[in-house]
Amino acid sequence: MAHIRSLFFDGPLAEVENKAITAYKLGRPSEIIWNITNRCNLLCDHCYMSADAHQRPEQLSDEDSIALVKQMAEIGVPLLFMSGGEPMMRSNFWEILNEARSYDMHVVVSTNATMIDRAIAKRLKTAGVDWIATSLYGPADFHDALVGVPGTRDRVVNTIKILREEGVRVALKSAVSSDTWPHVKELIATAKELDCGLIYLCDLITSGRSEGEEDGRITAEQWRELADYVLADVLDPETTLEYDIGALPSVIPYMAEKLIAQGIDVTKGLERLKTVSACPVGKGHMNINSEGGIMPCQFAQDWTIGNVRDMTLAEAARKLFEYDEQNAQGVCSDEECEYSRICRGCRTKAFHEFGDPMGPDTTCILHPNDKRSAAGAAKSGSQTPSAPCAMGSCS
Ligand SMILES: C[S@@+](CC[C@H](N)C(=O)[O-])C[C@H]1O[C@@H](n2cnc3c(N)ncnc32)[C@H](O)[C@@H]1O
Ligand code: SF4
Ligand code: SF4
Repeated sequence: MAHIRSLFFDGPLAEVENKAITAYKLGRPSEIIWNITNRCNLLCDHCYMSADAHQRPEQLSDEDSIALVKQMAEIGVPLLFMSGGEPMMRSNFWEILNEARSYDMHVVVSTNATMIDRAIAKRLKTAGVDWIATSLYGPADFHDALVGVPGTRDRVVNTIKILREEGVRVALKSAVSSDTWPHVKELIATAKELDCGLIYLCDLITSGRSEGEEDGRITAEQWRELADYVLADVLDPETTLEYDIGALPSVIPYMAEKLIAQGIDVTKGLERLKTVSACPVGKGHMNINSEGGIMPCQFAQDWTIGNVRDMTLAEAARKLFEYDEQNAQGVCSDEECEYSRICRGCRTKAFHEFGDPMGPDTTCILHPNDKRSAAGAAKSGSQTPSAPCAMGSCS
């Protein structure tokens, strides 16, 4: 998670991000992503949690789910993502939402938007959700084949229009893979046309139905092309779209270098990154699966540190903070990379590739194939003027 506009400049998420950082500094979770159910009415090819029609046997009961929200409120969690599976398929979805809102928690609902009509859109508005985050992958034929249900893309687009008419903020999400790559720039244009405030672009995670699909990722060169495109848009005074880049933390030092090279002050962003690194594992970010498992990252459902049935959220937060005290290995170690503390590399990709979350992130776009580019020059003593950490801001 890396909100580009809010990080380097001022974006629409600055207020809630400030609350999240305050919570983290106080030793609480800054935000919780909760997969309230594994059930889903779609069957996306790439789904990292292999969601389908079946409920997991040990899914948290309704009673436990409400007790969990109360506990979140008690320890001051400012932001809750209700995700899935398809969260709206959970029978007490509205009860959880209303409970969270009764404590004034910010709530984002991450949904495939197939269960929202105008009446539901009005209800979501009344409940006070911050954002509906919904997924789009490309043109109708492509999208429908990917999610496995005909007619879905048109339905999602129509729902987004209804949500915007009802005054609900909408974020568009897409997985970036070699399949979706031809459509990504078009998706950015669609986000603007549909008046979405944010687009989330996530590098392919190779778990669930994507397990073993490392070849399905786009190349580092393609990611750099996309990062340049995004940065140009963020710098365009005519546009306001916020970008969130998922599972590719190295995009942040890459963009910081580009901004410095253009003479743009990135001090604010680097200051913030000292507190919350580009990979949020161990930095207050908490994830809970449908069975109550507490995870450092939602993209690794089997990497758990305990269960809400056996430990409090405060205890879990302390345990998650321990990841931040560890040095990553290989190219992402403090010794090898001057960005190690502000970037950290994607800990979940390391977990999937090496079975060790502190392993190297081999998808770094700054040094594809382990050959350092601008960052490598900086490390070897001949720092480029554009290297963010040459300004002494990263330690
Ligand atoms: C698991 S879904 C949950 C919410 C809802 N069911 C939906 O699809 O929007 C959250 C987001 O994760 C993305 N996603 C799923 N599998 C992924 C993977 N293997 N790599 C990257 N993103 C993935 C989806 O495209 C979706 O935008
Ligand atoms: S990505 Fe979302 S909509 Fe698709 S199968 Fe997974 S949970 Fe369902
Ligand atoms: S080597 Fe690792 S920590 Fe350094 S920029 Fe690349 S992904 Fe980030």
